[in-house]
Amino acid sequence: MSAIVVENLKKYFNGIKAVDGVSFEVEEGEIFALLGPNGAGKTTTVRLLTCQIKPTEGKASVFGYDIVKEGNKIRKLIGIVPQERALNELLTAEQNLYFYGMLYDLPKRQIKRKIDELLPIMGLEHRRKELVKNFSGGMKQRLSIILALLHEPKLLFLDEPTTGLDPQARRHIWKFIREINDKGTTVFLTTHYMEEADNLCNRVAIIDNGKIIALDKPSNLKRKLEREKIVEIEVDIETDAEKKLLEKLKGIEGIKHLNYSNGILKLFVEDRKGLLLDVIKTLSEKNIKAMATVEPTLEDVFISLTGKRLRD
Ligand SMILES: Nc1ncnc2c1ncn2[C@@H]1O[C@H](COP(=O)(O)OP(=O)(O)O)[C@@H](O)[C@H]1O
Ligand SMILES: [Mg+2]
Repeated sequence: MSAIVVENLKKYFNGIKAVDGVSFEVEEGEIFALLGPNGAGKTTTVRLLTCQIKPTEGKASVFGYDIVKEGNKIRKLIGIVPQERALNELLTAEQNLYFYGMLYDLPKRQIKRKIDELLPIMGLEHRRKELVKNFSGGMKQRLSIILALLHEPKLLFLDEPTTGLDPQARRHIWKFIREINDKGTTVFLTTHYMEEADNLCNRVAIIDNGKIIALDKPSNLKRKLEREKIVEIEVDIETDAEKKLLEKLKGIEGIKHLNYSNGILKLFVEDRKGLLLDVIKTLSEKNIKAMATVEPTLEDVFISLTGKRLRD
């Protein structure tokens, strides 16, 4: 059975097309990511699927239940880790968990059992009685995940679970998400980190301006780019005259896209003899510091599809 089925879902806010006709399915047991830049429509999609807002058009179901008509059934089956954390900083970790569990009407015994089970998995066992205000960002996020798991949901939504965390804290969260998934929970997460989608997820939907522009396994998304080569050139382009060189490069036969940012020029090129020579000639007055052909990443997939970077 599919965990989520979405058909032509739309959400407009006074003319702003936050979600603009998306369709996809998430299988039970998957880790599925919605990858896209700020403002792409990720949070709105999560709020629709978790029955917090109603669609303008289209439909979606979670475990077969309609998101508009059967919200009460859905809410029991899903856990939500929102983009903005909802922890009480003046309570301890344990107090937060009891408070939240009681809001969910869970028996005290079940709350205790889940706390005893989840705190060690999330590496927070020794912090159980500490005030949340003393927690690091990564610890708060881990506690938010435990909150969302107290009622044993079959499907967990995580909205940008590692935004703002350092790389080590991020890898911790990834490990915990994998463990939760191994134990049978389906995971739907949003992210603007391509490494996160690439490392963690079975399938990735790339979303931009409210529309899904690609959906596949990370390896397949990257393989589609393999017919193109990606050349990275380290070069400074600052003056207007230098910027004109970029226009000139775009005119070279075989160059499909280019993107310049922070001293790195990325060229997406076809395999054509003599092409690199043309590039070097065009940039000749400039000091090319280094040049290399690189393997495509999901970020490159995004640039190739949209012409812009995920974090522009
Ligand atoms: N309640 C709202 N009212 C008006 N516009 C909104 C509202 N929620 C989101 N938007 C707009 O919808 C677009 C998508 O937002 P969002 O889903 O939060 O994107 P993301 O989570 O990918 O950053 C943005 O342009 C945002 O400003
Ligand atoms: Mg968001």
